[in-house]
Amino acid sequence: MHPAGPEGALMVIARRLARADASVCLTGAGVSAESGIPTFRDAAKGLWSRFDPEQLASADGFRNNPDLVWRWYRDRVKAVQDAQPNPGHVALARLARSLDGFTTITQNVDDLHERAGSADVVHLHGRLTAYRCLECGTPVQLDLAQRLAAEPSVCAACAGLIRPGVVWFGELLDGGLWQRACAACQQAQVMLVVGTSGLVWPAAELPLLARRAGAHVVEVNPEDTELTGWADTCVRGRSGEVLPVLADQVERMVS
Ligand code: APR
Repeated sequence: MHPAGPEGALMVIARRLARADASVCLTGAGVSAESGIPTFRDAAKGLWSRFDPEQLASADGFRNNPDLVWRWYRDRVKAVQDAQPNPGHVALARLARSLDGFTTITQNVDDLHERAGSADVVHLHGRLTAYRCLECGTPVQLDLAQRLAAEPSVCAACAGLIRPGVVWFGELLDGGLWQRACAACQQAQVMLVVGTSGLVWPAAELPLLARRAGAHVVEVNPEDTELTGWADTCVRGRSGEVLPVLADQVERMVS
C-alpha cells in the first residue's frame, strides 16, 4: 500500500486503467453520501437511533412491524428521489464510456449510478424500488403514491405485504449477480474501491479476490478502512473530488 499524493497517484492509476483490458469498480454509501444520502449507519441516528438497524433491515423486523420498516425505506426512497447524482457518480459513468471492459459493482440500493449514466450496474444488495411480495415473491411496480404511502401495499396475488427489493440481514445475495461480480474482479487488471468501509461481507471479499488474481487495487476514501491493508494505492479524498480528476486524465489518454 503506497499512500500517494492525489495528482501523482491519479496519473499512474489513469495510465493503468487506459492500458487495462478489464477493470472494475466497487462502490459503497460514501459515493452517494455526496448526494446527501446518509449512509445506512448515519441514517440510523436521529429519529431512527432508538431502533436497531438489523430490526429495520430484516424480514423478521418487517413482519413484526411492517409500517415502521416500510417508513424507514420510504424515507430513503424520498431522499433518493430528491437527490441528484454527484460528480463522483458522473465520473464513473464517464470511465465506463472511455474504457472497454469497465464494470461497476455497487452495494448501494439507490439509482444514482444509473441516473448519472452508468449502465448494467451490478447491485449486490438489491435496489430500493425493485419491490416484490414478501410471501410469494411476485415482482410489483408501485406508483409514486404507493411508494410514499405510510404503510406497505398488499400483493394482488396472495395478499402478502409488498417489501423493498433490498437484501436484508440474514438474506443471501442474488447468486447470479455474485458470480458476475466475482468474475469481473478476477479478470480485472485494475480495481477501484470507492466509498465503502469494507465491513459487510461478502462484498468486502471482492477486493481480496481481485488482488489475489493480480489486479492493482486502488482505494478512494477519506479514511482508512477494513480494506486499506489490501489496497496497492490509497487515495485519501472524497469520491466527488478524486474520480472526476481520474476520469479527465483517462479521457485525455484514450482520446
Ligand atoms: N467519498 C468517498 N468515501 C466516503 C465519502 C466520500 N465523499 N464519505 C464517506 N465515505 C466513506 C466512509 O469513510 C466509509 O468508509 O464511505 C464509507 C461508508 O461506509 P458504510 O457507511 O459502512 O457504507 P458501506 O460500506 O456501503 O456499507 C456496506 O452495509 O449498511 C449496509 O447494506 C448496507 O450496502 C450497505 C453495506
